[in-house]
Amino acid sequence: MLVEPLTAENINEICELDAACFAAPWQVNSWLSELRQSKVLGIKGFGGLLALASFLPVFDEAELTKIMVLPTARRRGLGEKVLFSALAALLDLQVKRLFLEVAEQNKAARAFYEKHGFIISGRRENYYENPSDNAILMELNVLASSLLTPGTGCAISHEAHGEER
Ligand SMILES: CC(C)(COP(=O)(O)OP(=O)(O)OC[C@H]1O[C@@H](n2cnc3c(N)ncnc32)[C@H](O)[C@@H]1OP(=O)(O)O)[C@@H](O)C(=O)NCCC(=O)NCCS
Repeated sequence: MLVEPLTAENINEICELDAACFAAPWQVNSWLSELRQSKVLGIKGFGGLLALASFLPVFDEAELTKIMVLPTARRRGLGEKVLFSALAALLDLQVKRLFLEVAEQNKAARAFYEKHGFIISGRRENYYENPSDNAILMELNVLASSLLTPGTGCAISHEAHGEER
């Protein structure tokens, strides 16, 4: 399966995936704005969008704004695949640090980030509503992660440009 850039032409699939993954998905206008300002990568299959990662680079730092995998397609490496493609794109852009926020109770996402080298850098009390939760702030040294993670490096760089692995 290919990792490919997503555009406003994919808006319906993106909103469907978001609604399948989050209790409070973004509205269409929020996604259209995200697609204008951030880089959004996706993996398609079985007639729809299976995974997505969205990130906003600002100089040598970036924020991972969203990452999600269709519930029925989880634990098969798609999250890892789309994350690695995002990291390859960030390396190309000479981004050094990647930041994110994750709900404290989101055990799956926290395990996913920890597996890929993100470390906790802060905590915000009662940051989320419906359901109410604290935010854990995490960050990744992008360059170190590309050097230390087996199987990344050149391979992920090719994927980011749409070549099959
Ligand atoms: C987080 C998410 C993107 C992971 O996607 P995925 O395709 O299931 O992840 P992968 O198959 O690549 O898993 C890689 C690793 O993540 C961790 N992980 C993923 N899901 C997990 C779970 N339910 N419980 C514990 N660890 C989990 C494991 O370390 C896993 O490695 P392993 O399978 O060898 O144990 C997915 O669970 C998701 O879309 N969650 C809902 C949206 C969300 O919360 N996004 C993050 C918001 S901050």
